[in-house]
Amino acid sequence: MSATPMVQAESVCKNFGALQVLRGISLEVQHGEVACLIGPSGSGKSTFLRCVNHLEKVNAGRLRVDGDLIGYRERGGKLYEMSPRDAARQRRDIGMVFQHFNLFPHRTVLANVIEAPILVKGQSRDEAVAWAVDLLDKVGLANKADAYPAQLSGGQQQRVAIARALAMDPKLMLFDEPTSALDPELVGDVLAVMRDLAQAGMTMLVVTHEMGFAREVADQLVFMADGVVVERGDPREMLENPQHQRTKTFLSKLL
Ligand SMILES: Nc1ncnc2c1ncn2[C@@H]1O[C@H](COP(=O)(O)OP(=O)(O)OP(=O)(O)O)[C@@H](O)[C@H]1O
Ligand SMILES: [Mg+2]
Repeated sequence: MSATPMVQAESVCKNFGALQVLRGISLEVQHGEVACLIGPSGSGKSTFLRCVNHLEKVNAGRLRVDGDLIGYRERGGKLYEMSPRDAARQRRDIGMVFQHFNLFPHRTVLANVIEAPILVKGQSRDEAVAWAVDLLDKVGLANKADAYPAQLSGGQQQRVAIARALAMDPKLMLFDEPTSALDPELVGDVLAVMRDLAQAGMTMLVVTHEMGFAREVADQLVFMADGVVVERGDPREMLENPQHQRTKTFLSKLL
């Protein structure tokens, strides 16, 4: 295991105009760890994930992925913003799965999965197809390669979205409420794929309120409120014995 954390946030701040959304987020996720992020609506969970992926620029603090500063270069103690090209290169190594799957509707499942490896990574079509078939098998959709997204259930579409993110061979996967738009009976299959991924050693930062998943799979539970980390620790311990009143109140509403 590497000593450098996969994700290291130090006092990360983000505001939208006068609205301070992240007010000094500090946390670490080690290589191979799964961290689940919970918190009330509007507490900044999605914003934080988007900062990790540099879809949003932080206003203060430091955000590192595998030791590399996200979005900036540091020279002589000063920060310089990265070129869009370099930022895009950083983003390649970070897979993101959203609540809504954002698959290309007019392309087959296979075409959705092979697009980025071919266009962005320059893989040959044969290579990309072989890898995609493997990934679709892993997410339980080997027989759906030629289907169109509209012909799949929400849970199946979400598993395609996971395969598509994995096709770029990311070192970190971010999930933003990947099951919250799904019918309850479809949630389990998606969580099972995520559990397999965790067991295979993927580092994952997951916004979810599926506490069964957090308890079983996560190494770390992070409770955010009002743009700060209120509490983080072992999920089982935190769920049984939260240290802060805010956490207690939030969890009592959730469970
Ligand atoms: N692009 C934006 N411009 C302005 N305000 C924004 C923008 N994105 C998010 N916000 C605001 O930032 C705050 C945090 O939003 P965020 O989506 O990060 O919360 P969240 O914890 O993910 O909530 P939820 O559980 O509802 O998904 C909210 O008040 C939101 O309105
Ligand atoms: Mg959100």
